[in-house]
Amino acid sequence: MNNYNNLIFEKRDDYYLLKINRPKNLNALNQDTISELKQCFDFIKKNSKGFYGVILTGEGDKSFVAGADIKEFTGLDKKASIQFCKNGHELFNNIERMPIPVIALVNGYALGGGCELALSCHFRFATGNANFSQPEINLGIIPGYGGTQRLTQIIGKSKAMEMMLTAKMINSDEAFQFGLVNKVVKDNNDGMHHCEELIKTLKRKAPIAIKNVIKSVNNFYDNSSDGFLEEINLFSECSSTFDFEEGVKAFIEKRCPDFKGE
Ligand code: CAA
Repeated sequence: MNNYNNLIFEKRDDYYLLKINRPKNLNALNQDTISELKQCFDFIKKNSKGFYGVILTGEGDKSFVAGADIKEFTGLDKKASIQFCKNGHELFNNIERMPIPVIALVNGYALGGGCELALSCHFRFATGNANFSQPEINLGIIPGYGGTQRLTQIIGKSKAMEMMLTAKMINSDEAFQFGLVNKVVKDNNDGMHHCEELIKTLKRKAPIAIKNVIKSVNNFYDNSSDGFLEEINLFSECSSTFDFEEGVKAFIEKRCPDFKGE
């Protein structure tokens, strides 16, 4: 199953294991990874019978996913940025609508698109060294993979505002207090153990009822679809600013950005 450049995809006895495998880049999501993830989740959707969950994690023990690949941002104009957001939205919506639960085992950094990826899953377990942040504001953009909507849905407006406006990094204990994660685990091994225990529990439940709980809970948020569309437009508006160019340049040059408000 593993003909992927950026992923490790395995069928275990009764669940799927999916690892983002770009540890040198802290598992940042480049467009190739997004498209490989789409292929895997399409496969899982069509082959969910007899499988009771998906464990989604990052290779290594430093990072789950450190966000969208900022190195692909150079030259991203208004039009391309709309497509960029739509690619992420399509994948993350698919994950949210999977017929079997997807468990994010957040094993290190979950930043920007990485936090948004975890938010699209049905359960989030975080290792003791996990850190969550929406740092897009430091690049002169906004979260563009559904974060403005899902983070607010999950942790509420005031905490979501704080995270998105300050780029504050929160550790796994704070994330648990915020309701951002379901459980804090020790490390990768302990995390896998807890994920497998959860899958054992899910295996004892009725599969059609599981699929319909996911569908029905998602229906509760359906009226927020305009918010998702508007997020794409606002992201793309930021992408044509001087500040975005400066934010990306500053990240690549490993310095603080000098924003001008234009
Ligand atoms: N994109 C591309 N490369 C990344 C990356 C990212 N998001 N995050 C880390 N990397 C790369 C670094 O450039 C570095 O590569 P080189 O060795 O080639 O220089 C490598 O991964 C290791 O990273 P650091 O040397 O920076 O490691 P560190 O331990 O000093 O710092 C960090 C870790 C705090 C996570 C830091 O890497 C960082 O701030 N990363 C960027 C996080 C970020 O801003 N994410 C949001 C992206 S925007 C987004 O996701 C938009 C959206 O909504 C979809």
